Amino acid sequence: MPRIFSGIQPTGIPQLGNYLGAIRNWVHLQEEFECLFCLVDMHAITVWQDPAKLKEQTLQQAAILLAAGINPDQHILFNQSAVSAHARLGWIFSCIARIGWLNRMTQFKDKVGKDREKHSAGLYVYPTLMAADILAYKATHVPVGDDQKQHIELANDIAQKFNYDYQTEFFPQIKALIPPAAARVMSLRDGTKKMSKSDPSAQSRIELLDTADDIAQKIRRAKTDSNPLPGTVAALNERPEARNLVEIYAALSGVSVDNVLLQFEGNGFGPFKEKLTELVVATIDPIAQKARSYLKDPDHIKTILHTGAEKAKAIADPIVEEVEKIVGFIR
Ligand code: TYM
Repeated sequence: MPRIFSGIQPTGIPQLGNYLGAIRNWVHLQEEFECLFCLVDMHAITVWQDPAKLKEQTLQQAAILLAAGINPDQHILFNQSAVSAHARLGWIFSCIARIGWLNRMTQFKDKVGKDREKHSAGLYVYPTLMAADILAYKATHVPVGDDQKQHIELANDIAQKFNYDYQTEFFPQIKALIPPAAARVMSLRDGTKKMSKSDPSAQSRIELLDTADDIAQKIRRAKTDSNPLPGTVAALNERPEARNLVEIYAALSGVSVDNVLLQFEGNGFGPFKEKLTELVVATIDPIAQKARSYLKDPDHIKTILHTGAEKAKAIADPIVEEVEKIVGFIR
């Protein structure tokens, strides 16, 4: 059975983009694949994290993933730092990746802007650790949102260079699984910016622990323009906020963007936003409620993560030991 690996940074409460771009897919893929889902706390600390908050957010994310339908009995849910294979392979991959490759990473460039010198070295080698996350399990399929595509391409470059340098076929090719709709959900305040759990404005995103009232308020306040909804997708091109809301509607209702527009053509945003709110609440509210109930027993969540880490180690340790032998380390 092909193996899936994917991860999420515990840097805040997961938002609707994480759900539509990744988590919803993870839940479905459990039917066909052997799956590992990882709370990537080592990636999180590439930018400063308050230690108490990091712990709290890791547990919160685990609760949300369980509430969304991740099954820790049949699959593996764990936090990255609990499995040392990630760090060991991450180092080897930092020695395989070329500085020029890392310089081309758009996420790094966007994050640091002109202020490159002040950021952590960890942020720079972030993609080499991400490659290690996947390849420590020889996972072949990685369900992610569109923003991670370049990182997956880099992981493939690293795997190929490793295979070439050491004259081996050890690492497989990786395939990114990107959803057809809502692969990049945008901010509710600015349709040109990605929705993000670390955006300073909580109004810019719908979080998976929001109440129905929070959701209604955020959607009511979501930026739009004053024109009615158009009848064609092409007419949304210059209207990023409108386009984003229509795409979210389409992704949640399972209807194509064309059909959403057929349904709402000529309507103002008022009635559309009401229907959209109903859809978002119907998806998020049950997850939020279940997650809150998981969070009443943090020890239970810790046990699930601990068990997951043991299962993950059993897969990754032999693979990474093999890599260490290939490299010439005495084991
Ligand atoms: P992170 O924590 O930013 O996001 C987790 C997942 O959610 C997707 N996503 C989105 N999808 C659509 N619209 C959005 N606005 C949106 N925001 C986030 C992301 O694409 C991702 O799939 N580098 C990764 C974590 C990671 C990882 C890995 C992923 C570390 N190691 C190995 C896959 C495999 C990240 O920062 O995700």
